[in-house]
Formats: sequence, structure tokens, C-alpha cells
Amino acid sequence: MKIGVLTGGGDCPGLNAVIRGAVRKALLLGHEVVGIKNGWRGLLDKNHYTLDHEAISGILHRGGTILGSSRTNLYEEGKNYYQQAIENYKAMGLDALIAIGGEDTLGVAAKLYKDGINVIGVPKTIDNDLSGTDYTFGFDTAINIATEAIDRLHTTAESHNRVLVVEVMGRHAGWIALHSGLAGGADITLIPEKPTTIKEIAAVLKQRHDRGKTFSIVVASEGAKVTTESDEDSSLVLQNLKKDSFGHVALGGVGNIVADAIEKETGFETRAVVLGHIQRGGTPTAYDRVLGSRFGIKAAELVEAGDFGKMTALRGTKIVSVSLDEAVGTLKTVDDETYNEAQTLFG
Ligand code: F6P
Repeated sequence: MKIGVLTGGGDCPGLNAVIRGAVRKALLLGHEVVGIKNGWRGLLDKNHYTLDHEAISGILHRGGTILGSSRTNLYEEGKNYYQQAIENYKAMGLDALIAIGGEDTLGVAAKLYKDGINVIGVPKTIDNDLSGTDYTFGFDTAINIATEAIDRLHTTAESHNRVLVVEVMGRHAGWIALHSGLAGGADITLIPEKPTTIKEIAAVLKQRHDRGKTFSIVVASEGAKVTTESDEDSSLVLQNLKKDSFGHVALGGVGNIVADAIEKETGFETRAVVLGHIQRGGTPTAYDRVLGSRFGIKAAELVEAGDFGKMTALRGTKIVSVSLDEAVGTLKTVDDETYNEAQTLFG
């Protein structure tokens, strides 16, 4: 078979491990593999090249993706992208596609499968918000980077008797904030799933400072819903209204706004740090290299078995497959039980 491999959406540490695992296994099984450049965009441009042993050599430890990425939506309304992509898939002589991506890329993959294309998905996102799998690769690297940053901010916050607000990624789900907050000992963690008011945040910090503490660490997801009062209209979240082709606004800035509001409410000097893309860049952790490699191998095995319309998934310690529909049906957000555990350690 001739198998196309592509990476779509925001990049993520471990993508190259998946590519390497999938290509090595596919070559062992006697298949031919081509890399499609820049996500779904590459299928529209027929931009592809052969992935042989040489092409995937020395990439395991490298961050980013050797294939490049884009946020192209083949099913964007008013465009005929997906018909073009299907035509190109046939013209390129492809028999199967391995799409490595998050909710948007795999949403397109699920639709393409229904439109007759042999697709396998691999779950990628630092946000860890895909259903059907216990973890996505990239998440472990992101929380390790965020935890190291929180550790560093602790010592400077303590020296200066400051409150430091650390803004981490997480558009719809607070997994990065919750895990790095737990690992780094955050005094309060703000996530999209749990709307909060500045008065509630201030109460936690004041209580802590009343116990004699002179500094605090607040971890906030970029998608945190923080309001001045209980009224949703007084939302403090800054949103740049520019949207991508999937309709997502570019987030970023909640940390600074929350920091200003905390300082006004409590009188404690408060500063903000936005970690942003630092969480997505650089070398993947050993965990993400292993998970990515295992996902890649499984993706090639699913192609060999002709078991299309599936996504590789981690369940416990086993790599299994789930239907793409199950994976993209609903986002995996932070549940009450997990949040309550973390909340025990606030303040
Ligand atoms: O989905 C992963 C993610 O890193 C989100 O946490 C974040 O909102 C988004 O991508 C940012 O994307 P970009 O850097 O491509 O604008």
C-alpha cells in the first residue's frame, strides 16, 4: 500500500516520534510511505515526498514536526476543499492516510472516512482534551515545562512577597493547568470548566496570607473564565476576535487581566507570566517519545489490517483503537472529582 502521513493543528512534542514509529513499522510490513507537508493544506497542494529510512533518521528527540503543520479545514463552509483533497488523494495513488492531530484535524479525518477515504487518526495535543484515550502525547512535555516554570516562579515570588499568575495553554480544557498546578504546588488553579470570580480568588489568597504566607502562585488556563462578579457579562477574559478556519478565537492575556484584578482586590503586588508556545516547543519527554512511538506503530498496524476510521488510543498501559467518531464526539474536559482533588490543596 502507499500510505500518506500528515500532521495538522498546533504542533506538539512527540510528533516526530509518531512519524518515525509509523514509517518504520509500515516499511517493515512492506508498504511505501509519503509525508504530506503542512497538514491538510499539503493534500490540497499535492505537496508530498517519500519517507524512507533516511528521511526519518535522527528525528526521535526533536520537537515540532518534520512534516510541517497548518490549521486548514477541508470542510470549511463555502469552499470545495474536501472534494479537491479526495481527488488529489486518488491522483497521488494513496491507499491510506495516517492523520496525526487534535480535535480539528481528527474531525476532518472522521468526515473524510465517511466520504470514502481510508483514514487512521493519532491523538495529538498538549491540551490532553481528546476523548477515547487516557492521554494524548505532548501533554507530558507541556506539564513538565509548566511545572519547571512554576518552581522557578516560586522562589522569586517568595523573595519579593508577590502573587504570581502563571498563564498556561488549554483552550477548552484545564488539564495542563490542573496537572502543572498540582505538581508545582499552585495556591489556586483557574480552568475553563470552573468559572470563578475575582472575589473568590482573592478570598483564597487572603486566607493564605492571613496564615502568614507572603506570596502566592496562581495558575490559569488561557481559556479560564474569570469574572469580576458572578455576572458572566463582566468577563475579564481578553479575546482577540480573529478566528482560524475552524472558528477558534486566538486566546491569550487572561493572566495579565486577572493579575491586575487580584492586585486591586487584595492590595498584594501581583504580576503575570504567560508561558505560551514555550510549552509546545523543544524536545519531548521520554514519556511522550515512548507514547508517540507506540501510537505510530499501532497506526501502521491498523492500516495493514484495513481497520480504518479508527484512532490509536492509550487505555491504562495498552495501546488500543477506538472509532474516530468516539474520539471527536465530545471534548474530554476536567471532571468534578479530579477538580475537587486539586482544590483540596488550594490556599
Ligand atoms: O490546541 C493546542 C493549543 O496549544 C491550545 O492550547 C492553544 O489555544 C492553541 O493550540 C494555540 O494555537 P496556535 O499557537 O496555533 O495559535
